Amino acid sequence: MKFAVFVSGNGSNLQAIIEAVKSGEIKAELALVFSDRRKAYALKRAKEAGIPTLCLLRKDYATPQSYERDIIIQLKEMDIDFIVLAGFMKVFTPFFIKKYPNQILNVHPSLLPSFKGARGIKDTFTYGVKVTGVTIHFADDKMDHGPIIMQESFRIAERETLESLEERVHQVERKIYPKAIAMFVEKRLKVSGRRVKILEKPVKK
Ligand code: GAR
Repeated sequence: MKFAVFVSGNGSNLQAIIEAVKSGEIKAELALVFSDRRKAYALKRAKEAGIPTLCLLRKDYATPQSYERDIIIQLKEMDIDFIVLAGFMKVFTPFFIKKYPNQILNVHPSLLPSFKGARGIKDTFTYGVKVTGVTIHFADDKMDHGPIIMQESFRIAERETLESLEERVHQVERKIYPKAIAMFVEKRLKVSGRRVKILEKPVKK
Protein backbone atom coordinates (compact mmCIF):
# COMPACT_ATOMS: atom_id res chain seq x y z
CA MET A 1 0.00 0.00 0.00
CA LYS A 2 1.17 3.51 -0.79
CA PHE A 3 0.20 6.60 1.16
CA ALA A 4 0.65 10.35 1.23
CA VAL A 5 1.00 12.54 4.31
CA PHE A 6 -0.57 16.03 4.04
CA VAL A 7 1.03 18.78 6.11
CA SER A 8 0.84 22.53 6.66
CA GLY A 9 3.33 23.17 9.44
CA ASN A 10 6.03 21.79 11.71
CA GLY A 11 5.64 18.10 10.90
CA SER A 12 6.32 16.48 14.28
CA ASN A 13 3.63 13.91 13.46
CA LEU A 14 5.14 13.39 10.03
CA GLN A 15 8.48 12.68 11.73
CA ALA A 16 6.89 10.02 13.95
CA ILE A 17 5.24 8.47 10.90
CA ILE A 18 8.53 8.44 8.95
CA GLU A 19 10.16 6.62 11.86
CA ALA A 20 7.28 4.13 12.17
CA VAL A 21 7.60 3.29 8.46
CA LYS A 22 11.37 2.86 8.84
CA SER A 23 10.99 0.58 11.86
CA GLY A 24 8.36 -1.55 10.08
CA GLU A 25 5.55 -0.63 12.50
CA ILE A 26 3.63 0.82 9.54
CA LYS A 27 3.88 -1.68 6.71
CA ALA A 28 3.20 0.71 3.82
CA GLU A 29 5.19 2.98 1.57
CA LEU A 30 5.22 6.68 2.42
CA ALA A 31 5.35 7.81 -1.21
CA LEU A 32 4.56 11.53 -0.97
CA VAL A 33 4.45 14.47 1.41
CA PHE A 34 1.99 17.09 0.21
CA SER A 35 1.95 20.63 1.58
CA ASP A 36 -0.33 23.61 1.01
CA ARG A 37 2.36 25.92 2.41
CA ARG A 38 5.76 26.47 0.86
CA LYS A 39 7.36 27.33 4.17
CA ALA A 40 6.11 24.27 6.09
CA TYR A 41 9.03 22.87 8.09
CA ALA A 42 7.54 19.43 7.44
CA LEU A 43 8.75 19.73 3.82
CA LYS A 44 12.33 19.91 5.10
CA ARG A 45 11.80 16.80 7.19
CA ALA A 46 10.45 14.96 4.13
CA LYS A 47 13.39 15.99 1.97
CA GLU A 48 15.85 14.91 4.66
CA ALA A 49 14.15 11.50 4.73
CA GLY A 50 14.32 11.26 0.93
CA ILE A 51 10.54 11.33 0.46
CA PRO A 52 9.12 13.02 -2.68
CA THR A 53 7.28 16.28 -1.93
CA LEU A 54 4.60 18.28 -3.68
CA CYS A 55 3.42 21.77 -2.77
CA LEU A 56 0.32 23.26 -4.39
CA LEU A 57 -1.16 26.52 -3.15
CA ARG A 58 -4.90 27.09 -2.96
CA LYS A 59 -4.48 30.72 -4.08
CA ASP A 60 -3.21 29.56 -7.48
CA TYR A 61 -6.62 28.01 -8.28
CA ALA A 62 -9.95 29.65 -9.06
CA THR A 63 -12.12 27.29 -6.98
CA PRO A 64 -11.68 24.71 -4.19
CA GLN A 65 -12.71 22.04 -6.68
CA SER A 66 -10.08 22.90 -9.30
CA TYR A 67 -7.46 22.81 -6.52
CA GLU A 68 -8.69 19.45 -5.26
CA ARG A 69 -8.96 18.06 -8.80
CA ASP A 70 -5.30 18.82 -9.41
CA ILE A 71 -4.28 17.16 -6.13
CA ILE A 72 -6.35 14.06 -6.99
CA ILE A 73 -4.72 13.81 -10.44
CA GLN A 74 -1.27 13.77 -8.82
CA LEU A 75 -2.31 11.23 -6.17
CA LYS A 76 -3.89 8.89 -8.70
CA GLU A 77 -0.83 9.14 -10.96
CA MET A 78 1.27 7.98 -8.01
CA ASP A 79 -1.17 5.18 -7.10
CA ILE A 80 -1.71 6.58 -3.61
CA ASP A 81 -4.08 4.27 -1.71
CA PHE A 82 -4.74 6.40 1.35
CA ILE A 83 -4.03 9.78 2.92
CA VAL A 84 -2.81 10.76 6.36
CA LEU A 85 -3.45 14.35 7.47
CA ALA A 86 -0.81 15.51 9.92
CA GLY A 87 -1.42 19.12 10.84
CA PHE A 88 -3.03 19.83 7.46
CA MET A 89 -5.25 22.84 8.05
CA LYS A 90 -7.77 22.62 5.21
CA VAL A 91 -11.15 20.91 5.05
CA PHE A 92 -11.90 19.00 1.84
CA THR A 93 -15.11 19.32 -0.13
CA PRO A 94 -17.32 16.22 -0.72
CA PHE A 95 -15.72 15.98 -4.20
CA PHE A 96 -12.34 15.12 -2.67
CA ILE A 97 -13.69 12.97 0.18
CA LYS A 98 -15.67 10.79 -2.27
CA LYS A 99 -12.43 9.90 -4.07
CA TYR A 100 -11.00 8.48 -0.82
CA PRO A 101 -14.00 7.30 1.25
CA ASN A 102 -12.87 6.33 4.78
CA GLN A 103 -9.33 6.37 3.47
CA ILE A 104 -8.25 9.71 4.94
CA LEU A 105 -7.05 9.75 8.55
CA ASN A 106 -6.64 12.84 10.73
CA VAL A 107 -5.15 13.67 14.12
CA HIS A 108 -6.66 16.34 16.35
CA PRO A 109 -5.21 17.63 19.64
CA SER A 110 -8.36 17.38 21.79
CA LEU A 111 -11.07 14.92 22.71
CA LEU A 112 -13.50 15.47 19.84
CA PRO A 113 -16.18 16.68 19.46
CA SER A 114 -14.83 19.30 21.90
CA PHE A 115 -12.45 22.02 20.73
CA LYS A 116 -12.43 21.52 16.98
CA GLY A 117 -10.40 23.82 14.77
CA ALA A 118 -6.88 25.06 14.33
CA ARG A 119 -6.29 26.08 17.99
CA GLY A 120 -7.43 22.94 19.79
CA ILE A 121 -4.76 22.94 22.51
CA LYS A 122 -5.02 26.65 23.31
CA ASP A 123 -8.83 26.50 23.38
CA THR A 124 -8.72 23.46 25.68
CA PHE A 125 -6.32 25.20 28.07
CA THR A 126 -8.24 28.47 28.10
CA TYR A 127 -11.57 26.73 28.74
CA GLY A 128 -10.13 25.11 31.86
CA VAL A 129 -11.18 21.51 31.27
CA LYS A 130 -9.63 18.98 33.67
CA VAL A 131 -9.23 16.17 31.16
CA THR A 132 -8.08 16.37 27.58
CA GLY A 133 -6.39 14.17 25.00
CA VAL A 134 -5.89 13.30 21.37
CA THR A 135 -8.32 11.99 18.75
CA ILE A 136 -7.51 10.01 15.61
CA HIS A 137 -10.43 9.87 13.18
CA PHE A 138 -11.42 9.44 9.57
CA ALA A 139 -11.75 12.79 7.83
CA ASP A 140 -14.97 13.85 6.13
CA ASP A 141 -16.12 17.12 4.58
CA LYS A 142 -16.67 18.84 7.94
CA MET A 143 -13.91 20.12 10.18
CA ASP A 144 -12.56 17.54 12.69
CA HIS A 145 -15.76 15.55 12.36
CA GLY A 146 -15.53 12.04 10.80
CA PRO A 147 -15.81 8.65 12.60
CA ILE A 148 -13.46 8.30 15.59
CA ILE A 149 -10.82 5.58 15.42
CA MET A 150 -8.97 6.13 18.68
CA GLN A 151 -8.80 8.55 21.60
CA GLU A 152 -6.35 8.81 24.47
CA SER A 153 -7.11 11.04 27.44
CA PHE A 154 -5.10 12.44 30.33
CA ARG A 155 -5.68 14.80 33.28
CA ILE A 156 -4.55 18.38 33.11
CA ALA A 157 -2.38 19.13 36.14
CA GLU A 158 -2.99 22.20 38.37
CA ARG A 159 0.47 23.46 37.50
CA GLU A 160 0.00 22.88 33.74
CA THR A 161 1.09 25.70 31.43
CA LEU A 162 0.07 26.05 27.80
CA GLU A 163 3.59 25.00 26.82
CA SER A 164 3.62 21.89 29.02
CA LEU A 165 0.17 20.94 27.76
CA GLU A 166 1.31 21.31 24.14
CA GLU A 167 4.27 19.05 24.83
CA ARG A 168 2.10 16.39 26.49
CA VAL A 169 -0.46 16.45 23.66
CA HIS A 170 2.27 16.12 21.04
CA GLN A 171 3.82 13.19 22.92
CA VAL A 172 0.47 11.36 22.87
CA GLU A 173 -0.02 12.17 19.17
CA ARG A 174 3.39 10.77 18.28
CA LYS A 175 2.57 7.62 20.24
CA ILE A 176 -0.94 6.81 19.00
CA TYR A 177 -1.06 8.13 15.42
CA PRO A 178 1.44 5.59 14.02
CA LYS A 179 -0.49 2.84 15.85
CA ALA A 180 -3.78 3.86 14.23
CA ILE A 181 -2.15 4.09 10.78
CA ALA A 182 -0.66 0.62 11.27
CA MET A 183 -4.12 -0.75 12.14
CA PHE A 184 -5.58 0.85 9.02
CA VAL A 185 -2.86 -0.71 6.85
CA GLU A 186 -3.52 -4.09 8.48
CA LYS A 187 -7.23 -3.63 7.55
CA ARG A 188 -8.26 -3.83 11.18
CA LEU A 189 -10.58 -0.79 11.14
CA LYS A 190 -14.18 -1.59 10.33
CA VAL A 191 -16.37 1.48 9.81
CA SER A 192 -20.12 1.36 10.14
CA GLY A 193 -21.77 4.78 10.21
CA ARG A 194 -19.97 6.81 12.87
CA ARG A 195 -18.64 3.74 14.64
CA VAL A 196 -15.22 2.28 14.03
CA LYS A 197 -14.57 -1.19 15.32
CA ILE A 198 -10.97 -2.25 15.89
CA LEU A 199 -10.55 -5.88 14.89
CA GLU A 200 -8.15 -8.12 16.79
CA LYS A 201 -4.75 -8.63 15.23
CA PRO A 202 -4.70 -11.87 13.25
CA VAL A 203 -2.95 -14.48 15.39
CA LYS A 204 0.47 -15.43 14.00
CA LYS A 205 0.88 -19.16 13.48
C1 GAR B 1 -1.00 18.66 15.70
O1 GAR B 1 -1.11 18.98 17.07
C2 GAR B 1 -2.33 18.19 15.16
O2 GAR B 1 -3.09 17.49 16.10
C3 GAR B 1 -2.99 19.51 14.81
O3 GAR B 1 -1.96 20.25 14.23
C4 GAR B 1 -0.73 19.92 14.87
C5 GAR B 1 0.33 19.69 13.82
O4 GAR B 1 1.58 19.50 14.40
N1 GAR B 1 -4.11 19.30 13.92
C6 GAR B 1 -5.26 19.99 14.03
O5 GAR B 1 -5.41 20.90 14.82
C7 GAR B 1 -6.36 19.57 13.06
N2 GAR B 1 -7.54 20.29 13.31
P1 GAR B 1 2.78 18.92 13.53
O6 GAR B 1 2.84 19.75 12.24
O7 GAR B 1 4.01 19.15 14.38
O8 GAR B 1 2.51 17.47 13.25
